[in-house]
Amino acid sequence: MRFHILPTAADIHEQVADQFCKLLSEQPFSKLGLATGSTPIGIYTSLVRRFRAGEVSFRNATSFNLDEYVGISEDHPESYHSYMDSKLFQHIDLAPGSSYLPNGNATDLQEECSRYDNLLRDAGRIDLQLVGIGHNGHIGFNEPGRSLRSGTHLVKLDESTRQANARFFDRIEDVPTQALTMGMDTILKARTVLLVVTGADKAATVHRALTGPIETECPASLLQLHPDLHVYMDVEAGLHF
Ligand code: GLP
Repeated sequence: MRFHILPTAADIHEQVADQFCKLLSEQPFSKLGLATGSTPIGIYTSLVRRFRAGEVSFRNATSFNLDEYVGISEDHPESYHSYMDSKLFQHIDLAPGSSYLPNGNATDLQEECSRYDNLLRDAGRIDLQLVGIGHNGHIGFNEPGRSLRSGTHLVKLDESTRQANARFFDRIEDVPTQALTMGMDTILKARTVLLVVTGADKAATVHRALTGPIETECPASLLQLHPDLHVYMDVEAGLHF
């Protein structure tokens, strides 16, 4: 586990974007694991700027996202499809058909989970996986509980997660109650995992996750088992380290 505690979130955005650019210049055919939420937005902004400056190309890369809500359309402004399009995909040269997200509108959600797992399996290991952390220790939408699932699966979102994400929706009733998420096994199999955490409100969560017991009640604690985990925190999030 390597810790990078940086003065500001902007410093994190640049250093994490550096890691993506370095990988893509060395291995243009890389498989990228992408995340949503407010934390990675600055990273995507930086990647778009670098692409426009001709410093990086995604032409030969493939991307897989961690998760998607169930029950809102792909073109809903808060769907993760819309998020990825507006923050990154529509601004870069990732080839059409090379970016994958689970389809939260599939008629058969179990079949959709198998389809996504098959895509991931056929692609092979993700080279660089970006993850954020929820206040309750979730990764992707792997919520705390008595057990965790290894592959892509349907989850019922915690009330605390819905409350946390309510800021993106008009009303709490509009926040989906379910989602599809990549499982912990897929995340842990990535060659390198970048955990990005900013803000004082996540300080206790990330400290518990990375120094406390490895337990399903804190899914992010399983990241302690990863052989190449890089943790990027601003000073506020890194308060207890
Ligand atoms: C969401 C996403 C996660 C993300 C987390 C934290 O629920 N599914 O991938 O890490 O919330 O989001 P934020 O960065 O907005 O705090």
